Amino acid sequence: MGMEKKLILDMDTGIDDAMAIAYALGSGKAELIGVTCSFGNVTNETAVRNTLDLLSLLGAPEIPVCRGAERAIGAESFTVSKGCMDVHGENGVGNVTLPHRGTPCDTAAADFILEAAEKYGQNLILVPTGTLTNLAAAIRKDSETVRKIGRIVFMGGALTVAGNVTPYAEANIWNDPEAAKIVLESGIPMTMVGLDVTLKTLLTRDIAESWAEMGEAGRALSEMVCYYIQHEYEALGCALHDPLAVGIALDPELAQTHPFAMTAVTKGEAAGRTIAHSFPHQCVNPSVQVALEVEPFAALFNETITGLFKRLMETA
Ligand code: BDR
Ligand code: CA
Repeated sequence: MGMEKKLILDMDTGIDDAMAIAYALGSGKAELIGVTCSFGNVTNETAVRNTLDLLSLLGAPEIPVCRGAERAIGAESFTVSKGCMDVHGENGVGNVTLPHRGTPCDTAAADFILEAAEKYGQNLILVPTGTLTNLAAAIRKDSETVRKIGRIVFMGGALTVAGNVTPYAEANIWNDPEAAKIVLESGIPMTMVGLDVTLKTLLTRDIAESWAEMGEAGRALSEMVCYYIQHEYEALGCALHDPLAVGIALDPELAQTHPFAMTAVTKGEAAGRTIAHSFPHQCVNPSVQVALEVEPFAALFNETITGLFKRLMETA
């Protein structure tokens, strides 16, 4: 494709992650060079399966998909919560049946990220939209190489609003608070796209329904997103959590941010809370730009993914 900017998505492939893949492929602003998988909405195995199937559906079966962390740091296992199954369906993609295609690559997620950081440096954009476990593993292995990445924008956390799993915790941080702490305290510059802004980007049911006549990909995404809307905020629509992180990564001017020295609470009632340090000596490196305001995004999102659906219909 020859685009200068390269993009890696790191995700727990549920429905809004699927929308994020479609947005990334439709935008044409960076070349998607790989998807590394974590866990959360689904297990790592299902995230890999869903990602392979979605990339194929969306006309990009050649893009490598890597296995990643299967559970949180220090945990013995991971089980998908009932809440996630309700919102994303038992298979993570709204119980829509996608044809199974492709096999994962041999490189593990953290190594894929490190190799790409070495190769592309400032031209690499990394967007985690699941737990931060793979990024934490890469930082633990070689933080200096992670520093070479041009832009890291993750979906997760909530600084100024309540969580969506507990009053304190947003799902991606809740699923591995230790990993979030490692990432947030690493001092590596990054942008946090949390519930503070994603809840301001609602996609309505009539927009999702309008994709149903747009070929195989449009139909599948329409069905998934209608499921998501029905099981998330029903009357209002659904929040564009993960697509917004990709949107801001590709067009930073979409968000207004403020720098903070952030951490994550790992234990107790507030586990999973993302919070800014309060003592001056802990605030010397406010490396996390927290998105606090966002431009309207739903129309740009719709235009971008319908453009992709139309291109896929023309080449079918
Ligand atoms: C985040 O949690 C996951 O369920 C979604 O895919 C999104 O990444 C929202 O809190
Ligand atoms: Ca996600």
